[in-house]
Amino acid sequence: MDKKMTQHIATRFRRLKRMGSLRSMVQENVLTPADLIWPVFVMAGSNERAEVPSMPGVARLTVDLVVEAAKEARSLGIPAICLFPYTDPSLKTQGCEEAWNPDNLSNRATRAIKDAVPEIAVMTDVALDPYNINGHDGIVRDGVIVNDESVEALVKMALAQAQAGADILGPSDMMDGRIGAMRSALETEGHTDTAILSYAAKYASAFYGPFRDAVGASGALTGDKKTYQMNPANREEAVRLVARDLKEGADMVMVKPGLPYLDICRDVRDAFGAPTFAYQVSGEYAMLVAAAQNGWLDEEAVMLESLMAFKRAGCDGVLTYFAPKVAKLLNA
Ligand code: PBG
Repeated sequence: MDKKMTQHIATRFRRLKRMGSLRSMVQENVLTPADLIWPVFVMAGSNERAEVPSMPGVARLTVDLVVEAAKEARSLGIPAICLFPYTDPSLKTQGCEEAWNPDNLSNRATRAIKDAVPEIAVMTDVALDPYNINGHDGIVRDGVIVNDESVEALVKMALAQAQAGADILGPSDMMDGRIGAMRSALETEGHTDTAILSYAAKYASAFYGPFRDAVGASGALTGDKKTYQMNPANREEAVRLVARDLKEGADMVMVKPGLPYLDICRDVRDAFGAPTFAYQVSGEYAMLVAAAQNGWLDEEAVMLESLMAFKRAGCDGVLTYFAPKVAKLLNA
């Protein structure tokens, strides 16, 4: 090759890729255990774990073991745990009354964690699906998910969770007006410091399948969630939903699912600069783990790469079932 020509490559990107030290000096984003929120499935009983077949490595835990998980999170530097209850089918009703029972599984787990490991932030799920005979996130009347009556129920549920000591409420229901209604009820009842992380841009996704197995909602669900969750074809609507939820009193917002929706994460970050989270959902977890189990992907590598992608897309953090595994790796 002509010597003069090569000398004129002024910008050689490979100069800073030559060695690890140089690469790390110019690395733009970092992933730390503080970026992780660990979703856990809670079941009744004691000292028992039940593996979730469609989510290898993930198990439903009894409350005492959830407390152990919270201690583990604390020692790994994971700031928050998010509770999802597996509700006994006999407690599911049309009116979803178990949702605001002060002693339901989720509220018992919250109290137990806050007693044992108060430093861990407890996040709870505000949606009626675990308690609904129809498996829907809102109340169903004559085949229709009724919005305003659902919001009333969700507010009762949110108050019971705040009362139990939840630090972060995670409304995942997608009813209209729920953030405003919850915020004003929390203020009225003196729960002025309870944070809301709104599932603001939540899509009607097929990637939630394994989660519905884990919480026992798969069999219960009649129809789909397209009358309240977002159409995967929409982008502008996500920004409008986030604007609405922030205005109604959400402290943080979420995009869900995660990896297939990174464009939405970036839109939300750029439009608002508000604390933005993504949920790497059950189906995303299952895909990566299944491929790794077949020897087709390197599990640790794809786990780290997929989680870093959320940071690059502008997220402050990620809800991920990989949380303890990845925190251990990052701490090593
Ligand atoms: C329901 C809820 C779902 C998830 C979190 N909360 C499922 C759904 O909307 O049907 C999914 C999480 C996951 O797939 O990991 N309120």
